[in-house]
Amino acid sequence: PSSDEPQITSEETLEALKIASHRLVDLAQTVVFPTETVYGLGALALDATAAAKIFATKGRPPDNPLIVHVSSFNMLRSLLPPGYIIPKAYEALMKHFWPGALTLLFPRNPDIIPTIITAGQSSVAIRMPSHPVARALIATARAPLAAPSANTSGKPSPTRLDHVHRDLDGKVSLILDGGACGVGLESTVVDGLHADGNIRVLRPGGITVEDLQRVLREEFHDIANKPKVLVHKRDYADEQLESAPTTPGMKYRHYSPSVPVTLLLTLPSLSGSQPAVKFSDYIFSLQKQQVNTENLKIGILAPTDSNLWNEIETINDVEWFRFPLGRLAEPSVIAQNLFDGLLSLERDGVHLMLIEEVVEEREGLAIMNRVQKAASDSIRIAMS
Ligand code: TXA
Ligand code: MG
Repeated sequence: PSSDEPQITSEETLEALKIASHRLVDLAQTVVFPTETVYGLGALALDATAAAKIFATKGRPPDNPLIVHVSSFNMLRSLLPPGYIIPKAYEALMKHFWPGALTLLFPRNPDIIPTIITAGQSSVAIRMPSHPVARALIATARAPLAAPSANTSGKPSPTRLDHVHRDLDGKVSLILDGGACGVGLESTVVDGLHADGNIRVLRPGGITVEDLQRVLREEFHDIANKPKVLVHKRDYADEQLESAPTTPGMKYRHYSPSVPVTLLLTLPSLSGSQPAVKFSDYIFSLQKQQVNTENLKIGILAPTDSNLWNEIETINDVEWFRFPLGRLAEPSVIAQNLFDGLLSLERDGVHLMLIEEVVEEREGLAIMNRVQKAASDSIRIAMS
């Protein structure tokens, strides 16, 4: 795609882009902008002082590297070490998924990329967003932008303007409004720099593992040694596993609203270790733990066609806050709504949230990755 071509024609948007670009480039400030995945907190990627403001604003641990956003392939090339040859698997993935929700690791060119961006890693994460405002902003600034999700570290990522307002108001100089983010989960972070030529998924995200596999199958159909897609699946509570190949950011508690979130295990389990509790008994036990006489306010996030919705109708003396996420058969819709659900229920003032698991297929893998990090515990429940 000829990605530098301006797609924005509205005078008002062009004016906003100019102001935002001025703040970024001339004042080295941070600016919040929409992307197709989540809102990003942007600053000049090649200016260490500007990038430092991102860490300060988010309260981000300094060992968690940032993604560099580009608007064109020329801009990508300008960041890479001289003479570097892009791996064939990357060529294939970029052809299909750029611009879009896929982040690729490249070798860091130490002459160009400040240490603060990569947090001392020898690789740099780069992505070309597809959101027209994001791309136009980078193109207007004529400079790559570092941008993590525009939330305080540890909080769910913002997918709507009001999420950003509630979290970062007063901490950023400017917020560009792009409406609701289409994907709703962050980009998939992929490492294809290993000598075996395989693609390692460090963070599941908007582009699914199935998508990656399909493209590599298609593009390498006549080649015996196809690159494989390797996925590191975490076990529910086993933080030990985090020492397996993963991305620095994934080791932190993350995506957590300010109230406790419990994961409801409702799918048949292979391990079968945890005995199931009747849902109504579980809620009763929560009510008993309630210290004051107020009715318990429980936020429920579950697929639109879940049995839970019938189940809660039979339970009294609880104030339910329902957030149907989308149909089970449409995990991309659930992905789009997940962070909005967590943040909306937090705003509603619930005492706790329950979120039902989904199958770890397609977007379900990334959904469960985020849900497991948001949840402080899990319980296996049986429906009546
Ligand atoms: O969709 C997205 O990726 C959003 C939008 C704004 O583009 N950005 C985002 O950034 O999610 P952030 O900072 O919240 O997450 C970046 C992830 C972290 O898990 C970080 O550890 C990983 O990418 N990462 C960045 N550079 C890396 C590197 N050189 N090696 C390994 N992981 C890296
Ligand atoms: Mg983030």
